[in-house]
Amino acid sequence: MNDRIKLDEFKQQVAAIYDRRSQTYDRGDFHLKLANTLIKYARIQSGQNILDIATGTGLVAIEAAKIVGKTGKVIGVDISTGLLEVARKKIEVAGLTNVELMLADAENLNFPENSFDRILCCSALPLFPNVLDDLILWRSFLVSGGLIGLQVYAKTAFVAGYILQLVAKRYGIELIFSDLTGTEDKCYSLLQKAGFKNIEVHREQLGNYIALEEAKKTWDGSFNHPLVSQLKQLSPEKLALAKAEYFAELEALVTDKGIWNDRTVYYVLGSNC
Ligand SMILES: C[S@@+](CC[C@H](N)C(=O)[O-])C[C@H]1O[C@@H](n2cnc3c(N)ncnc32)[C@H](O)[C@@H]1O
Repeated sequence: MNDRIKLDEFKQQVAAIYDRRSQTYDRGDFHLKLANTLIKYARIQSGQNILDIATGTGLVAIEAAKIVGKTGKVIGVDISTGLLEVARKKIEVAGLTNVELMLADAENLNFPENSFDRILCCSALPLFPNVLDDLILWRSFLVSGGLIGLQVYAKTAFVAGYILQLVAKRYGIELIFSDLTGTEDKCYSLLQKAGFKNIEVHREQLGNYIALEEAKKTWDGSFNHPLVSQLKQLSPEKLALAKAEYFAELEALVTDKGIWNDRTVYYVLGSNC
C-alpha cells in the first residue's frame, strides 16, 4: 500500500471524513449486507480477478477474495488511509493472501485492458464527481464478457438527506446525492451511456424508523460534508429560514413509530459486451 496520493480539496475532505469514521464504520451489519448482496448478484467465480472500487474497510474485497480463492485475486482501492488500515488488519486476521490494497483515486486508475473479470463499487458512487467518465474508464479494464456491479441508493433514500435536498433546492442550491442513479431508469440509462450491455437493475426495499431528534441532527452534522457544503453559501438569515423549514418538514413526517427512513437500494450490473 503506497502512503501518499495527490487529491483535490473535495477528495481530501471526503478522505478526511472516512478517516474519522474508520473505527466505527463496521458497526452494525448494514454495509456488510449490501456488500454481500452485491457479491451475490455479481456471480463471482473461483479464479477470477476482481477490482473493488472504494473498498473502504474491505467488506466487498474480503468476501470476494474468499470466493475467488488462491487462484484469483482482488485489488481494493480507496483514498482513505484510515479505512484501508482497518481493511488491512481484517485481511490479516482472515489469513487472506490474495487481496491487494491500493491507496488510489478511483477516478485516476491506470490498469491495462483485460485486467478484471468483475469491477464492483458498493455505496460510493455519489462521491465521484465524474461518474460517467469513471464508468467508461473502468469498463476499459474489464476482460471481454466481464461485469461491473454497483450498489447505489434511490433518490428517496435517507429521509434526512432527502428532505435537506428538497429544502436546499427552494433556496437555489442543488445538492446532488443520487442524481444519476436515483431511480431504476436512471441506473439503466447511466450504464447504457457508459457502453455497458445486458444491464440488470435489482431493487431492494430497505428502511427503518428513526427518532425525530436523530433526523434533525443531520442539519448540523452535514455541514462538514463536502456534498452539502454549498449550503454554507446562504446568508445567516436564509440559513435560519431553511433550517426552520427543514425541521417543520421532518416534524410533519412523524408517526407513532418515528419517521420512516427509506433506504431503498439498487444493484446495477452490466457487461462490457
Ligand atoms: C460509504 S464508503 C463505502 C465503502 C465500501 N465500498 C463499503 O461498501 O463499505 C465510501 C467509500 O468511498 C471512498 N472514496 C470516495 N471517493 C473516492 C475516490 N475518488 N477514490 C477511491 N475511493 C473513494 C471513501 O474513502 C469510502 O471508503
